[in-house]
This record gives sequence, C-alpha cells and structure tokens, in this order.
Amino acid sequence: MSIAKEFQASKNELENKVILVSGGGSGIGKEAALAFAECGAEIVLLGKNSDHLEETYNEFEARKLRSPILHQLDLETTTEEELKKINNALIEEFGKLDGLLNNASILGDKSPIESYKFEVWKKVFDINVHATFLLTKSLLPALRLSKEGSIIFTSSGVGRIGKAYWGAYSLSKFATESLGQILSDELENTSNIRVNSINPGAVRTQMREQAYPAEDPKINKEAKEILNAYLYLMSDKSIGISGDSIDAQ
Ligand SMILES: NC(=O)c1ccc[n+]([C@@H]2O[C@H](COP(=O)([O-])OP(=O)(O)OC[C@H]3O[C@@H](n4cnc5c(N)ncnc54)[C@H](OP(=O)(O)O)[C@@H]3O)[C@@H](O)[C@H]2O)c1
Repeated sequence: MSIAKEFQASKNELENKVILVSGGGSGIGKEAALAFAECGAEIVLLGKNSDHLEETYNEFEARKLRSPILHQLDLETTTEEELKKINNALIEEFGKLDGLLNNASILGDKSPIESYKFEVWKKVFDINVHATFLLTKSLLPALRLSKEGSIIFTSSGVGRIGKAYWGAYSLSKFATESLGQILSDELENTSNIRVNSINPGAVRTQMREQAYPAEDPKINKEAKEILNAYLYLMSDKSIGISGDSIDAQ
C-alpha cells in the first residue's frame, strides 16, 4: 500500500493518543516510539532490558518530548495477571489506550528443521506468539475505550513465504499474520479497533545483524527511515483500514 509508505505525518498527527510499544527500548520499537511522540502521542514503553529502556527515556528527555511510561518485563515469563495490571493502570491514568504496536520479538536460531533445538523453538513461540497474544488480549479492554483504536502486529517476509533455515521465527510470523487477521475479523462489527500487520523489510538493527552476520549493515535502512507506514496505521488517516498486511519499504 503505497499511501502508507509515502505517508508524511504532521507535527500533531497523534495528539491526544496513548500508544504502547512492546520492545520499545531498542531497534525499530525505540525509533517508532520516538516518532509517535514527535507527533504528539503519549508513550508507554515495554521492554526487557532496563538499560535500553533508560537510554530511550533519556533520548525522549534530550528531545524535550513528554516522558514515556516504562514497564520493564520479560515477555518470556510474564503472566496474564501482570499484563492486565498494565491495562488497568492505563485505564486509571488515561481512561483508554489508542494504539498498540506489537513489536518485540526474538530471532531464535537460523538452523535446518532437522537440527533445530526444541528449547529454542519453544522460546521463540513463547515470546513472539504467546506473549503477543497475551499482551493484545490483556490490553483490549483499554483499547475498546479509545474512540479509534489501532493495533499493529509486526511480521516479516518469512511470515508470508517460508524459507530454509528460518525455523520457528518464520512460523511465529505466519502465526502473527494470522492472529492479526482473526482479530481484525472479530473486532470489525463490535469495536472501533482496526488491526493490521507491517513487514518492516530489512532494517539496520541488532536482529538483522544476528540474522545476516556477514552482511555490511550499511546496505540497510536505519529504523528511523522506515516509519511512515507505522505512523499511517497509528493515525486517524488509516481509519477503515483493517486486516491488511503492509510493507514498510
Ligand atoms: N530488523 C529487520 O530487518 C526486521 C525484518 C523483519 C521483521 N522485523 C521485526 O521487527 C521487530 C523489531 O525488530 P528489530 O529489528 O528492532 O529487533 P531488535 O533490535 O532485536 O529488537 C527486538 C526488541 O524486542 C524486545 N524483546 C526481545 N525479547 C524480549 C522479551 N523476552 N521481553 C520483552 N521484550 C523483548 C527487545 O527488548 P530489549 O531491548 O529490552 O531486550 C527489543 O526492543 C521484530 O518483531 C522483528 O521480528 C525486523
């Protein structure tokens, strides 16, 4: 959808919106959170590494953006109870949640199925699939209180076509695409929440380096250069768009 890729957000595009970003302390999530805040949104960051969260917090301060709310938790071990507490805190503080960017993921091993370690397989599913489901489910009450809610799931090229050695990560992204489509269908007539997925494409982050250690990182765009589609899907300009899979590049 070229309208998403070419979208130019205005300074106040996301004013009065509250947006939660999982994996918001580093990589694409960090840059997306900063871009949402630059457009006026109130940001809630969820991440595992407290140093990353703090660095991102400091970057918000340095840019004179409203301070983000931080939730340090491990999506591998989190519980529905812990995530429901975040939902309740959002309702108490803001009365709603307008946007959820499901961005946190791990790569796991790049390995043939024949030798793929089951412990790694399970960990990838726990973080990329089970925790994404639980986080989304737990935050739906707050999202239902938004006038126009938006959920973005983060997919991948290998979430649409399976490729050798991408193992559990590829399956987890197929599952993510499916979760987004199911939820979009379920919410269509019962809420004002739209649900879409984004494939960021190749982006210069720690995950990309892990996947392609021999590649020159400079050939890929930086996270801050691929955010138009993210801003489009969070903005009211995308009202009515749901169940779509969008390429950021
Ligand atoms: N980069 C690419 O080329 C590319 C391509 C296609 C799709 N994607 C997708 O884009 C999204 C962002 O990827 P990225 O490239 O920015 O990767 P990244 O730099 O590795 O960032 C991954 C994020 O996930 C968070 N995370 C991982 N495990 C977690 C856990 N157990 N609990 C809580 N948070 C956890 C990390 O948080 P901490 O910093 O706190 O550890 C980090 O913020 C992912 O869904 C990825 O699959 C990326």
